[in-house]
Amino acid sequence: MNITVNGKGFSTEPRPGQCLRTFLRQLGWFGVKKGCDQGDCGACTVWMDGTPIHSCLMPAFRAADTQVTTIEGLAVDGQLHPMQQAFLDAQAFQCGFCTAGMIMTAASFTGEAKDELPRVLKGNLCRCTGYRSIDDAIHGVVEAEEDVAGKALGASLNNPFGHAIVTGAARYTLDIAMDNALHLKVLRSPHPHARIVKINREKALAVPGVVAIFTWEDVPRRLYSTATHEDHLVDPDDTYVLDDVIRFVGQRVAAVAAETVGAAEAACRLLEVEYELLPAVFDPELAMAPNAPILHHKGGEAKGNIFVEIHGENGSVEDGFKSADVIHEKIYTTSRVQHVHLETHGCLVWRGDDGRIHVRTSTQAPFLAKQKLVHIFGLFPGSIHVFTERVGGGFGGKQEMIAEDLCLLANLKTGRPVTWEFTREEQFIAASTRHQMTTRVKLGARRDGTLTAIQFRVVSNTGAYGGHGGETLAASLGSPMTMYRCPNKKGDGYAVYTNMIPGGGFRGYGASQSNFAIECAMDDLARLLGMGSFEIRRKNMIRPGDWMQSIWKETSDIEFGSYGLDQCLDMVEQALASGRGAVKPTGEDWLEGTGIALAMLESGPPTEHRSGADMRLEPDGSYHLAVGSTEMGNGSVTSHRQLAAAVLATRANRIAIINADTDLTPYDTGTFASTGTVVAGQAVALTAAALRDNIIDFASRHTETPKSDCRVEGDAVVCKTRRISLAELYEAGTSAGHHFEAKRKAYLSPRTIAANVQGVRVAVNRMTGEIQVLQSVHAADIGKLINPMQCRGQIDGSVAMGFGWAMYEKMVYNDNGAMVNPALRNYRIPAFADTPHTEVYFADTYDTIGPLGAKAQGECAINPVAPAISNAVANATGVRFASLPLSPERIFAELGRAKAPRS
Ligand code: FES
Ligand code: FES
Repeated sequence: MNITVNGKGFSTEPRPGQCLRTFLRQLGWFGVKKGCDQGDCGACTVWMDGTPIHSCLMPAFRAADTQVTTIEGLAVDGQLHPMQQAFLDAQAFQCGFCTAGMIMTAASFTGEAKDELPRVLKGNLCRCTGYRSIDDAIHGVVEAEEDVAGKALGASLNNPFGHAIVTGAARYTLDIAMDNALHLKVLRSPHPHARIVKINREKALAVPGVVAIFTWEDVPRRLYSTATHEDHLVDPDDTYVLDDVIRFVGQRVAAVAAETVGAAEAACRLLEVEYELLPAVFDPELAMAPNAPILHHKGGEAKGNIFVEIHGENGSVEDGFKSADVIHEKIYTTSRVQHVHLETHGCLVWRGDDGRIHVRTSTQAPFLAKQKLVHIFGLFPGSIHVFTERVGGGFGGKQEMIAEDLCLLANLKTGRPVTWEFTREEQFIAASTRHQMTTRVKLGARRDGTLTAIQFRVVSNTGAYGGHGGETLAASLGSPMTMYRCPNKKGDGYAVYTNMIPGGGFRGYGASQSNFAIECAMDDLARLLGMGSFEIRRKNMIRPGDWMQSIWKETSDIEFGSYGLDQCLDMVEQALASGRGAVKPTGEDWLEGTGIALAMLESGPPTEHRSGADMRLEPDGSYHLAVGSTEMGNGSVTSHRQLAAAVLATRANRIAIINADTDLTPYDTGTFASTGTVVAGQAVALTAAALRDNIIDFASRHTETPKSDCRVEGDAVVCKTRRISLAELYEAGTSAGHHFEAKRKAYLSPRTIAANVQGVRVAVNRMTGEIQVLQSVHAADIGKLINPMQCRGQIDGSVAMGFGWAMYEKMVYNDNGAMVNPALRNYRIPAFADTPHTEVYFADTYDTIGPLGAKAQGECAINPVAPAISNAVANATGVRFASLPLSPERIFAELGRAKAPRS
C-alpha cells in the first residue's frame, strides 16, 4: 500500500492485522508511543489526513493513500509548531512519554476547544504532571526562565532534553530498530497456587517463527529478589527466573522467543501445561492462621507466611493509655494500586561487537539490575553493560528487575538480540503494585489534646514474593509515627505472603498507607476532644530539637536539616480560609467539608544508598557531567545540571549530562527513596566544587595569582583583573599536563526530612456519592527550590496521583485472585477532567544536609492527599470512610447505612 508519513512516501504492506501504531514505528517513526494499545491513553496519537486518531486502534491498511503526520512531522523547516513551543515554554512534561500524543491532540485544537480541555483532552492521559502544566502550555503560559550564568540555582530552567521530547526525537527504551531481534512473550498462570507437572511444547514449537521456548527446567536454579536495594539482604531471595511452583495469577510459566510478537503470542497459546492445583490464600490475616497453605518455607512452619515481623516500643503505651482521658481506636485500610507509568516495562539485550552483553532497559536502578543479572547467570561483571535511554516514568515500579532476566536468558541461549515489551495488561497482572495494608491505630490523649500514646498494628499483604515487603513495612512504622511528639509509641508489623500479585516500591513507599491511617485517626481523635484539625496537629507535631524516633530504641540518623512543617500548616490554613476555589453545587443533597493531613518522609532509605558523579572540562570550555542515577521524569538531569552550574557560576546549558549507564557513569544505587536530589545531587555538587577548585588551582599557578584572588565566572576564570576563557585555560592546562577532571561520591547519612501538608475543600453528594474537589491546597517543605517550576510540577503530579488513589483507582480481583479490570478503561487513573488545580506553596527553608539547601521533592507529596480527602468527606457527612478508594458507590452505600448524615 502507499502511505505518506510526514511528507515522505512509503510503499510497503503491513502485516495481516497490524495496527497503524506498530506500522509507523516499523517505518522508523518512534515518536508514536504505546501506553496501552487499547485506545485508552492517547500516547499513540497521530494525524490521519489532519484528524487526530489513536493509531493503535486503526488497522494499518486503512491508512492506505492517506497523509499521516506524527510528532516528528509537526515542525516545519526546523521551526517548532506553536504547540510544541508552548509545551517547551511551560515545560508541560516530566517523563515526556505522553507528550508526543498530547501535542498531536492539542495542536489540532481550533476555535473554542481550549476552553473545553476536560472534554477534548479526555483521550490523552498523563501520569506525571497532574495536567496543570499542560493546561498552562495550551493557554500560552510561559514558565521557563532564561539561563543566566551564576543564577542557575532557583531558576525555572528548561529540561535539557525538552526540545527532543517535544519533537519526538527523544529515544525511550524500545525506540530503536535492531536487526535480527527476537521477540519474547510469556505464558502466565491462570491459577493462584499450583505446581507445574508438565509442559508440552510440541505444538508451540511448530508455530512458524518460533525459535526457542524456556520453562523452569531451562533456567539457573538460583534464587534472587526482583526488588533492588543497595543492601540486598533486606529483600528475601525467594524468586527463580522461571519456577515450577506458581504462587499468583499472572506469574510466568514459560517464555517464547520468536521472529515476531504474533508468533510468540500464538506459541504461548499453544503451550500445554499440566498443573497440580494447590490451596490458595489471599487475605493476609487468613494467611497468618495456623492451617493456612504455606507459600514459601522460608521461616519454617512456625512462622508460616509471615516473612518479616517488626515489633518495637519506646516508653510504655500501656502507661500512656492509662494516663489518657480519651482513647480512639480504629482500623484503616488502603487499596492495592498500580503505578501506571505510561512506558511499560521493556528491555532489549544483545551481544555487541566487543563480545559483551548490552542491556538497554527501563529501570530505576541499572547498576543493581546488573548485579542481579551477574548473580543469576554467573557472569563475569565486566562482560555485561546495563543502561537506560530515556525512561517513561517509574514511581517505584521500575525499582524491580522483572524483564531483563528473561531477555538475557533468551539471548544467552539463542545468541540473537532479544526484546520484550510488557503489555498494559501485563503491567497490571504481573508487575508490582502498592502493598495493600491494614493499620489498626490506637491513640490516647489528655483532654487538652496532648498525645499520651500511639500504637500501630500493620498487616501488609506482600503477595506471592517478598521484594520490598520488609522495607515498606518498616517505612509504615517510621515517619508517620515519628511525625508526632509522644513519649509512648508501639508498633507491630507483619509482612505476609499471600497468593496475590507481589507488592513493590511505590511513591511514598509504605509510609503512604499508615500515613492515611494516622491522619484519619488524628481527625477522629480531634472530633472526640472537640478540637479542630489544625489545633490538634499544632499541639502534637514534631518540632526541631524533638526526639526523632518512632518505635525503635536505636538512635536514628534522621535529622532536621531544615524545618518547615509549621509554615506549611499556616499556608494551608490561610489558603483554605481565603474563599478561593469553586463554590458548592446548589441543592440540598450536596454537603461541604474541609480536611487536612500532614506527612513527613525521610530523604532516603534506612539502609544504604550511594552515588557518584564525574565531571570534566571540555576543550571548548564547556563541561561534561556523568551521573549514575536514572532520569525517569523526576527531573534529576535538570536539577543536577543546575546544581553543577550554580557551583561553577556558569549557565546550565554549558553542561552536557549523561546518566544511568554502568559503562559510562559512576556507580549509583538507583533513583528511588527520594535520593535523586539528596544523594546523587550531593555527589554532583561535591564533584562540581572539586572541579571548580581544580580549575582555580591551575589558573592560580598559570597566572601566578593567589588562589584566593581567582574565581570561575561564566565561561572564564578571573584572576584579579585578568580574565581567561575556560577554552584557553584548557589548552594551557593540557600543554602543562594538567587534567581538568573531578570525581566525588556521596553517601546517605544523616538523612534529612521533608514535610508536606494537603488541604481540601470538597462537596459530597449524598444521593450519588460523588465527590467534587472545590479547592486543593498543598504546602511543601522541600528546602531550597533548585527549579521552582519543576518543584511545583513534581508536587502537582504527586498530588494528582494521590487523588487517583483516594477516589477511583482500585485493582479488583475475583475469588481466584485474578484481576478483573486490567485495562486503563476499567482501572481509571486521573484524566484532565478529574484533576483539580492545586494551589502549591513552599516553605522558606534551607536544608543544611541536602545539596545547596535542597531536599527531596516529589515523593512525599502523595502521602497527605488521601487522608485529607477522607477527613473532608467525614467533615462534610459525619461519616468516616476508613478504607480506600472513596468511590461514589461506596460513599452512597455507607451514607445509606449511616444513621443520620448531616444535612
Ligand atoms: S497506545 Fe493507543 S491509546 Fe494508548
Ligand atoms: S509526562 Fe505525561 S506521562 Fe510522563
